[in-house]
Amino acid sequence: MISKKVEKAINEQIKKEEYSSRLYLAMASWCHRNGYPGAAAFLYTHADEERMHQLKFVHFLNDRGGYSVLQDIEQPPFKYDTLHKMFQEVLKHEQYITASINDLYHLCTTEKDYTTANFLQWFITEQVEEENLVNGILDQMALVGNDKSGLFHIDKELGAKAAPA
Ligand code: FEO
Repeated sequence: MISKKVEKAINEQIKKEEYSSRLYLAMASWCHRNGYPGAAAFLYTHADEERMHQLKFVHFLNDRGGYSVLQDIEQPPFKYDTLHKMFQEVLKHEQYITASINDLYHLCTTEKDYTTANFLQWFITEQVEEENLVNGILDQMALVGNDKSGLFHIDKELGAKAAPA
């Protein structure tokens, strides 16, 4: 049985994963309408991955005798100046999620909930991969700056990175 403290913290994390999915869906929509079909494909897929993260937490919490209760979600931003600035927001958001997962892990160890701590290992590894991926994209964008053909190629590469949904 999961403690009330851990249950509450997991429900908060579920909200954050749901928000992540909506944030990336909103970004995908912006890319779709602003001439970046590859980035749109990448972010549509990424939105699906975040929904999968949300579901992982929902199932885990309910399986352990807690109760996953969905919460209100605020509207994500829908306007961006440039693709580069948008991806800087992706990195910021992923860093925020990493910190949140680390806090959750810390809570589980203080509560001696080693089962949940063990479950969180997957997310800790996933966050390293996600931050690395976005850092790589930002490095490329910094190299090309405002060069249109450079951005065109980055967009193409992002499309190729979009895993099948
Ligand atoms: Fe669910 Fe991108 O972290």
